[in-house]
Amino acid sequence: MMYSRIAGTGRYLPERVLTNQDLEKIVDTTDEWIRERTGIERRHIAAPGETTVDLAEKAARQAMDAAGVTAADIDFIVVGTTTPDVIFPNCGCLLQERLGIRGCPAFSVEAACSGFIYALAVADRFVAAGTARCALVIGAETLSRITDWNDRSTCVIFGDGAGAVILKPSAEPGLLSCHLGADGTYNDLLFTPYGTSRRPEPGMPEASYIQMKGNEVFKVAVKTLERLVEETVTANGIDSSAIDWLIPHQANLRIIEATAKRLGMPMERVILTLRDQGNTSAASVPMALDTAVRDGRIKRGDLLLMEAFGGGFTWGACLARY
Ligand code: ACO
Repeated sequence: MMYSRIAGTGRYLPERVLTNQDLEKIVDTTDEWIRERTGIERRHIAAPGETTVDLAEKAARQAMDAAGVTAADIDFIVVGTTTPDVIFPNCGCLLQERLGIRGCPAFSVEAACSGFIYALAVADRFVAAGTARCALVIGAETLSRITDWNDRSTCVIFGDGAGAVILKPSAEPGLLSCHLGADGTYNDLLFTPYGTSRRPEPGMPEASYIQMKGNEVFKVAVKTLERLVEETVTANGIDSSAIDWLIPHQANLRIIEATAKRLGMPMERVILTLRDQGNTSAASVPMALDTAVRDGRIKRGDLLLMEAFGGGFTWGACLARY
């Protein structure tokens, strides 16, 4: 049996840091409220003109270096993003051009905060089936571009960034299982009102910012993630004590703590980046993974549980032997 295995990781955060204290000057909020309700203290914001693909390229190059592969080796590119540079060409194609690659499939997956897990699950199937031999999987976002900086209920949460992994075939496990789900009946709890085909009524503002009924999203997120991690553990016939690291989507510290509690995992075995990065949607899981790989916490052979929940609603989890 062939598996896909993570051969290298990378990440990139834009230079500009926006702190809770900075936000106190923009909207009616306090550092204390943001820290207590979310766990976030600061986030990175893309520079004017800096796009999702700019961030993705830097993360991709780091992951390629870590995996010891060159652009010529890559034969599959998939980007999870909610904030593509343009409607088309898709971010995968734009990234392919930046990296000087031609011919291989390159596309984006749109699943909000679950975008990276969805992308990873797709790439895993191609690599494990032998169709792709070196897949570049990205989660990249410039959420600051669809954030209403006058809305205190959303602008304190989101940040920009990109994470990347290289997946290669391996006879040793690798990705053990991926579990994806969605429920579109919740499309009115977390959304942008307009896009390409659905346009504002005449006289309505053109801007299409993230709108979220945070409290209701919170409740569904906690319940869904608890069910999802249980499903993943059960499907693999393991006890959750076998998991070395939980790598959650970094939406809210209280959501992460609830998931860890359900798994019986101490917070020391949970990778947290949201304090310094905020919620970077599809970028948060691969950036957290790369952070813990580079600081030496995650070692070869460790069992990882990655999970995410986001707009749609969408959700996904992957259990992987690193
Ligand atoms: N500063 C101060 N007060 C605030 C702020 C703020 N930034 N934002 C809201 N409040 C106020 C509200 O107005 C409300 O006041 P009221 O009681 O007088 O009406 C009070 O704080 C409580 O508001 P809630 O929305 O109930 O606060 P909650 O504790 O639920 O925290 C939060 C809000 C952080 C958004 C939380 O609900 C959350 O994290 N939700 C889940 C987000 C998530 O997981 N999203 C999915 C991924 S994102 C994606 O897919 C793009």
